[in-house]
Amino acid sequence: MADGFAAPVDFATGFAHGFTPEVEALTAPLFAKLQGKVTPFEWRMHAPLIAEINALKRAKNAVILAHNYMTPEIFHGVGDYVGDSLGLAREAQRAEAEIIVQAGVHFMAETSKILSPDKKVLIPDPLAGCSLASSITGADVRLIKQRYPGVPVVTYVNTTADVKAETDICCTSANAVQVVEHAAREWGVDRAILIPDEFLARNVARQTDVRIIAWAGRCEVHERFSAADIAEMRQSWPDAEILAHPECPTEVLEASDFAGSTAAMSDYVSQRKPKRVILITECSMADNVAVDAPETEFVRPCNLCPHMKRITLQNIRDALLFDRFEVTVDPAIAERARAAVQRMIDMPPPVVPARYDLVRARHHVDVELI
Ligand code: 13P
Ligand code: SF4
Repeated sequence: MADGFAAPVDFATGFAHGFTPEVEALTAPLFAKLQGKVTPFEWRMHAPLIAEINALKRAKNAVILAHNYMTPEIFHGVGDYVGDSLGLAREAQRAEAEIIVQAGVHFMAETSKILSPDKKVLIPDPLAGCSLASSITGADVRLIKQRYPGVPVVTYVNTTADVKAETDICCTSANAVQVVEHAAREWGVDRAILIPDEFLARNVARQTDVRIIAWAGRCEVHERFSAADIAEMRQSWPDAEILAHPECPTEVLEASDFAGSTAAMSDYVSQRKPKRVILITECSMADNVAVDAPETEFVRPCNLCPHMKRITLQNIRDALLFDRFEVTVDPAIAERARAAVQRMIDMPPPVVPARYDLVRARHHVDVELI
């Protein structure tokens, strides 16, 4: 994780002086940590920006919240808090800085703004979207509620503030089973609406007695993995442990050894230290986890998230230097959305993080697709 640097920054022009001996010395410990993940050539480009960003953070009382899908030079170089969607939402609320720079996608920045209305929240590229967030609108949720009165609406955090405002309680992949069961219990019903990720909903349905009503949204990164991919990998690397994200199709999870949120996958590797592992998720995840897991060999099939990859050191530096691009949420919408996110945050953390362990699944039930 990033440490403070007293970088040689020219704030008048906003440009660092390049790969000077001072920058080289300041960033040498980080380069040593990223050895083998970043080439010396790349480092000569990254290091001045890393030094400049870390100096700007201090000068402007800012923190960077970096998702697990950020590239290693961002994740390890400038991220003050790193983790999954749930962890970053919690940190947004705890952060004492005046400025939050969200190194992630737009819905994450909106979530930070919803939870920290008095802070300035910046997203380095406002076009960093999400196929799940764009699959559903607040108007859609209002229609769903008309169709299923009295059924709690559980919404994945990968949604816009408008959608969260129509929601009873939010969830992430780290706690979806727990949230769905909590909502059904609180509402005194045996069903819950879990939107918008169809595959997450199907995977949750396999783990609970609560009947799930789902929406046909998909993560464009995880929907591309298939059971045939897993079978091929098993054949090529029979000793590898295969971990999948619950946004993948159910057949992928069935063929895997473990499934969980990005943080759960990272914890699996750091705690169990597998000899060889395959992470079925976005590409940067393995790069970041590998930095702290020298004893594990990573096979790296992956799909890039084009939205996450819009975030670069360059535009993080520009965000900090020029205070751009500020994320705002209509206060009336933010207030209603906050209630839904806060209900999730206030739930006690799960004793055991959701694993979507379909080998032990009690149910092979289908979901009702809206
Ligand atoms: P988590 O980090 O919550 O597992 O989510 C993954 C993801 O796709 C975020 O966009
Ligand atoms: Fe959205 Fe999938 Fe990209 Fe996450 S990985 S931001 S869910 S498209």
